[in-house]
Amino acid sequence: MLKKSLALLLMLILAVALVACGGDQDTTEDAGGTDETTDDTGGEETTDEGDAAAEDDGGKVEIFSWWTGAGEEDALLALIDLFKEQHPDIEVENAAVAGGAGTNAKAVLAARMQGNDPPSTFQVHGGAELNESWVAADLMQPMNDFYEENELMDKFPEELIDLVSKDGNIYSVPVNIHRGNVMFYNKVIFEENGIEEPTTLDEFVDVLAQLQDAGVTPLALGDKEAWTATQIFENLLLATLGADDYKALWNGEVGFDDDRVREAAEHFKTILGYVNEDHASRNWQDASQLVGEGEAAMTNMGDWAKGYFSNDLNLAVNEDYGYFAFPGTTEDFMVVTDTFGLPKGIENTETVKEFLKVLASVEGQDTFNTLKGSIPARVDADKSKYDEYGTDAMEDFQNNNLTPSLAHGSAAAEGFLTKVNQEVNIFVTQQDVDQFIEKLQAAGEM
Ligand code: GAL
Repeated sequence: MLKKSLALLLMLILAVALVACGGDQDTTEDAGGTDETTDDTGGEETTDEGDAAAEDDGGKVEIFSWWTGAGEEDALLALIDLFKEQHPDIEVENAAVAGGAGTNAKAVLAARMQGNDPPSTFQVHGGAELNESWVAADLMQPMNDFYEENELMDKFPEELIDLVSKDGNIYSVPVNIHRGNVMFYNKVIFEENGIEEPTTLDEFVDVLAQLQDAGVTPLALGDKEAWTATQIFENLLLATLGADDYKALWNGEVGFDDDRVREAAEHFKTILGYVNEDHASRNWQDASQLVGEGEAAMTNMGDWAKGYFSNDLNLAVNEDYGYFAFPGTTEDFMVVTDTFGLPKGIENTETVKEFLKVLASVEGQDTFNTLKGSIPARVDADKSKYDEYGTDAMEDFQNNNLTPSLAHGSAAAEGFLTKVNQEVNIFVTQQDVDQFIEKLQAAGEM
């Protein structure tokens, strides 16, 4: 009897010890803005083995995203922790694949979807990336009932529901709204050089020249992954075309032969004359780091960079770094929304829905977005939890023209985006405006 109790006690201690040093995903170190975040193409990282109870009970949720490393991972891990608090019996596998904007993750996902091996749920941008890739291929489950059952229909802005819907069905749940047309800048450099935030493209070019003359690197770019340069170009398109015609570009009503597209390309060329020399070997975190550490004045980045500045570099918003809308787009909000849906063919749909419920909840959204730099997708989230940047972005989202991002999957199909990224990459080195326009036109006609 005593032997039996001792054995039981030992097993218990062992189990507790295993859980304690086992797989809490919080032990994952962040990559501190180094290349580590992009170099790891090695598939999936399992950062949580779950506990003994999980295997018995609720099954497993495999969450697929590209949120690893600096400025990306904290928010996801906090959301996973919240989920685990609420569902200690469900195992979580964090299957994140490194590489900004899904550079590597999208390829891994495509292979898995084609091979009938979908993750339980995956990060996908609302708009074309969701609808024209996965929904059109009939690989996603409609989620209308999920929205009804959880009373979500009036909890998200209509524009977002539209982005995650096709032919009357809803296919995913938005976790956030990022803004893609943001310039972040080093406050000290601006002050020392007596620079005001530029609001037009002409003012922007003047500021770039002024900084260059003062011996400062005006603009930090890290286009080791081409999407960061594509992002600058899409903001220039928005600036020269205006919100309505920028949108018309994606439905073919405005062509790439439009003079204003050429104007955007000319500006792109000018601006590229002011970037750091080593731009091709840096990723977005490395480029943002130049601004944070006072080695460059500004960078154009989606506001995930805000998460990076605040959480990873410990910089204070409006003290160390400031922000303004990309010049020429002050009335516009380039929408980048990360969403999660339910692929067809997964075994444990009900378990996965439990995760999506937490992701869709006010608490889930506030836990995630206060760390990510984005604003909550839900309209009824707790505004008091957000700093000045967050509340400003919420206000702008309400008042500005909303435009879909090309670089982040919403505006056009993945095949077209891949081509644009390739052409942008060539343009950055060759800077041949005619050739660039021709190639864009050709890509658009396919
Ligand atoms: C975007 C994504 C953001 C952020 C960024 C950089 O596509 O929507 O959440 O992760 O890429 O990786």
